[in-house]
Amino acid sequence: MSIATYPELVCTLDDHEQQEFSKPFHHDWEILKAANLFLGIEEIAIRPIEFWLPESYVQFFPAIALAIRHERAVRGDLALDETLLTIRQNQVSRGRSQQQVGTRYAHQDSDGKRPERFYTISDNQSTHYYPEIPPLPAATPSGGQAEVTDRPYVAFDAYDLVHASALTYHRSPPMPEGGMRTFLRLTFKYEE
Ligand SMILES: [Fe+2]
Repeated sequence: MSIATYPELVCTLDDHEQQEFSKPFHHDWEILKAANLFLGIEEIAIRPIEFWLPESYVQFFPAIALAIRHERAVRGDLALDETLLTIRQNQVSRGRSQQQVGTRYAHQDSDGKRPERFYTISDNQSTHYYPEIPPLPAATPSGGQAEVTDRPYVAFDAYDLVHASALTYHRSPPMPEGGMRTFLRLTFKYEE
């Protein structure tokens, strides 16, 4: 299977979906634990077969459904192993990003051992993608990191749903102005 490394626009949320997406959100850890969906801070597992999520996630259902529909249409022949959902919503200071590491570095989400794709969408500054940085050879532990200060990047508009290989280098964008940012990532991991 060839793995495309460029980010691709899937679609843009409509006005109503945008309003829903940006509403205040709180992880309901108790419900997630009860449903055995709990993984850790920000990240939860969606059961791959039925894609079930608690009701408290309803504001994100349109974006999630669009990503699942697209992914299963283009890769329905692959055996899905797990699907991970990350949601971040917080105030970000000017010049900072929602990422823990500094803004100077881009990274890969995958070690390349198996096919993995991810979808991102946010309401304030899209993820920055660096498709020109060649992916590391498969099975490099925990993926790569690259210094990207002054390097050209590919970005999208707010509320654009974007699809990429998890080998594509990317970073959470430094915010030109401080503000609230809601970010969603959905990752599909396939069996080797
Ligand atoms: Fe990432």
